[in-house]
Amino acid sequence: MATVLDSVRAFFAPVTTYTIDTENSADVVARETLLDRAMGPDRRRKSSEKIRRGRLPAEGLALVARDGHGHVVGTVRLWNVEAGIAMDGAPIEALLLGPLAVDSSFEGKGIGAALMRAAIMEATNRGHGAILLVGDAAYYERFGFAADKTRHLVMPGPFERKRFLALELKAGWLDGAAGMIVACGRKLA
Ligand SMILES: CC(C)(COP(=O)(O)OP(=O)(O)OC[C@H]1O[C@@H](n2cnc3c(N)ncnc32)[C@H](O)[C@@H]1OP(=O)(O)O)[C@@H](O)C(=O)NCCC(=O)NCCS
Repeated sequence: MATVLDSVRAFFAPVTTYTIDTENSADVVARETLLDRAMGPDRRRKSSEKIRRGRLPAEGLALVARDGHGHVVGTVRLWNVEAGIAMDGAPIEALLLGPLAVDSSFEGKGIGAALMRAAIMEATNRGHGAILLVGDAAYYERFGFAADKTRHLVMPGPFERKRFLALELKAGWLDGAAGMIVACGRKLA
């Protein structure tokens, strides 16, 4: 029969399994704590943060990774934006991805990749045309992100051009896209 000590041991045992899930309101504190630890206090000064501030993530596109105990060990969210305008002058709807982070004690186990793949699949299933992000090309190019489609786009603040990447979910979605990235998602109440 399992003793109290067995339960305590099981609670602290290394957990190697994880699941990808939709974020819920009970995850917010854990997610923010994880982001502070992974990215530091300067994370709120990023240009991407200007786009996220005061907005809700795109419908169905706030995901978390949970360990075997259900604790949040990874997070990714995507945001509705207008990615400049097309050659006919119409705004181009797209998603801005970020932040992506995984708890440092769970790094290198494929959780970041699982979050990215789940996000890309969900965005595709929901009919979105493209995902943009600002991040290390060395990490994101494995998922198909590249800088060529963003060359005529700008973030609303300082950014490094070589880190400004995009993935088209529909071929040609960003053809001719030019201008500034502007938030267009649902506002926080
Ligand atoms: C980046 C991050 C999300 C990756 O999560 P993860 O679960 O460790 O990623 P995975 O296990 O799917 O992939 C690990 C691989 O990515 C590589 N990798 C991680 N960060 C990288 C980076 N910035 N540039 C290039 N490669 C990177 C690792 O070296 C490893 O390579 P390998 O498969 O050849 O061994 C995580 O390290 C993290 O939260 N970092 C701090 C926050 C951050 O930088 N977020 C991204 C903003 S650009």
